[in-house]
Amino acid sequence: MCGIFAYLNYQVPRTRKEIFETLVKGLQRLEYRGYDSAGVAVDGPNKTTQDLNNNSICLIKKKGKVKALDEEIYQKDTVDLDETLSTHFGLAHTRWATHGEPSALNSHPHRSDKNNEFVVIHNGIITNYKELKKYLINKGYEFESETDTEVIPKLIKYLYDNQENDSITFSKLVERVIQQLEGAFALVFKSRHYPGEAVSTRRGSPLLIGVRSEHEPPAEHIAVQYNSGHLREEIEEKNSHNSSNSNGEGKAVEYYFASDASAIIEHTNKVLYLEDDDIAVVKGGALSIHRLNRQAGDDPVRAIQTLQMEMQQIMKGNFEAFMQKEIFEQPESVVNTMRGRICFDTNKVILGGLKDHLKEIKRCRRLIMIGCGTSFHAAVATRQILEELTELPVMVELASDFLDRSTPVFRDDVCFFISQSGETADTLMALRYCKERGALTVGITNTVGSSICRETDCGVHINAGPEIGVASTKAYTSQFVSLIMFSLMLSEDRLSLQARRLSIINALKDLPELIRKVLSLDDKIKAIADELYQQRSLLVMGRGYNYATCLEGALKIKEITYMHSEGILAGELKHGPLALIDKDMPVIMILMRDGCYTKCQNALQQVTARSGRPIILCSQDDSEVIKNAYKTIELPETVDCLQGILSVIPLQLLSFHLAVLRGYDVDCPRNLAKSVTVE
Ligand code: F6R
Repeated sequence: MCGIFAYLNYQVPRTRKEIFETLVKGLQRLEYRGYDSAGVAVDGPNKTTQDLNNNSICLIKKKGKVKALDEEIYQKDTVDLDETLSTHFGLAHTRWATHGEPSALNSHPHRSDKNNEFVVIHNGIITNYKELKKYLINKGYEFESETDTEVIPKLIKYLYDNQENDSITFSKLVERVIQQLEGAFALVFKSRHYPGEAVSTRRGSPLLIGVRSEHEPPAEHIAVQYNSGHLREEIEEKNSHNSSNSNGEGKAVEYYFASDASAIIEHTNKVLYLEDDDIAVVKGGALSIHRLNRQAGDDPVRAIQTLQMEMQQIMKGNFEAFMQKEIFEQPESVVNTMRGRICFDTNKVILGGLKDHLKEIKRCRRLIMIGCGTSFHAAVATRQILEELTELPVMVELASDFLDRSTPVFRDDVCFFISQSGETADTLMALRYCKERGALTVGITNTVGSSICRETDCGVHINAGPEIGVASTKAYTSQFVSLIMFSLMLSEDRLSLQARRLSIINALKDLPELIRKVLSLDDKIKAIADELYQQRSLLVMGRGYNYATCLEGALKIKEITYMHSEGILAGELKHGPLALIDKDMPVIMILMRDGCYTKCQNALQQVTARSGRPIILCSQDDSEVIKNAYKTIELPETVDCLQGILSVIPLQLLSFHLAVLRGYDVDCPRNLAKSVTVE
């Protein structure tokens, strides 16, 4: 998904080379989101276009990796790299193509005209761009790309060219622009008419601003300025004389704008998350937030938060890929998910974010668990135990399908939105749909400050730490644990369920150690990958508590190895998939000593009777199964409803090794993005 990064240094001298380095580094931190081209905009007389005006803006854009853009910057002698600029605002962007092929022309920043009067970077989609484009073409504006984004710089120039008098402010222009836009966007604007000034805004796509000041700590809050009509100009007029509402006007300060915190954290841990329709302006080194009108329930201040994320948390360490690192982090990440929530002495489970809503949840008509991809699988994995411990009907829903069906939702429903990024467009739309119908909405997210986090009534932060590999691994097991904790919290006062609860709580205590044991099977799993990596197809079969592992394992395999893989419910074998089985079709079966043991053994017999050669994930020392298997991976046993956490890890590792052996980029699979902010 597109990544935004922008850097403003105010009264902090930086050479243009240093500015480029900061911009490129910011883009590198966002690479994990998935992209196909990149670009930057800086101030400076452009030697190659003969635009030698000091206020001119120079654009450098390139198809391919950030590294290719970096080389382009230094190879093409476009601007003076050694010049020192005490105040400067630079833009950078990674594009993930939605409208128009990946190319330098389609990549961002996009510009208003050949003189680059206004340039903009955008994450999201403008749904009414065709109408706007038609209008602007009629007015004589020429378009050069196939993107939806290009209407934005053209539109701002149109408004600038047609202003009533010559005094319109940059933020007022942006305010007028976003009144015309439909869809989702995070936008950062730069203009040669407003040098050193930055204006950014968002609706539906994330955007945050980091603040760094060597001399004094940034303000803790920024008051929102509500501006309508002439009042707006009055406030701005006042602000230019009095900086009480702003963040340190006139003082040396640096600002970093980004789609997520991973691009900012190495510069500062002080960040402000923009709300939908906020317009953030940096002028004269001072940051202010503007909105058109105050609505009931609006928070009139934006807090500058201190992020706890460590740089090393987002670095790869000694691992070959982020995905591998994240798989191996799971003994710690599940502990972080449980930390402060389960008291193993008293067997109490308290999810702070939900405790005020407990009564309402207990009284509800049903629980609806909604997510996409891996997050959906976390709901499938925990559905059975949720039904058992909450004694409520539980629906699990793919967000896109849930919306397509216009599923009936009622005021007494409780709807869970499970999302690692907290920004997935389908899940977010489903959330808004349920909210409109009066249901209680609960977020299960890994990204503090994300849209789902902010828009739900309450929620649980899974605390898995940043997940950078596109394939979700540790977030899945932490979502799993969070939902298990929810079922434990809800059943606390049910006497008949106490023995069951206790067995689960005890098993959660041992979980990190058991995960370590599974991870120690890595060499054995690698040997299986050596045997399988040239296959075209791989089936994963199981049922009951391990069915979700089949779906999730198959998803991991297909997304990073590009092999065909299918998760099959063993109970469905005779209804079609059995036709696929022969001596050449690789089959992985999950066959644990649980409630489905006998039924799974029947499935195993069906497979071996057709000369299938199953690789079986089974319980330790299960000689009955081992003797019928082609190969086995013996797993430590835990309580049935947690077994899925242990059984998914070998499949995460297997998909990783298969992808490496097949020569693919594990962290950035083709055509996929970490955060899917379009429908
Ligand atoms: C698969 C994967 C995706 C995501 C899905 C939802 O490995 O990562 O299937 O799970 O795009 O993303 P989130 O959880 O961010 O809503």
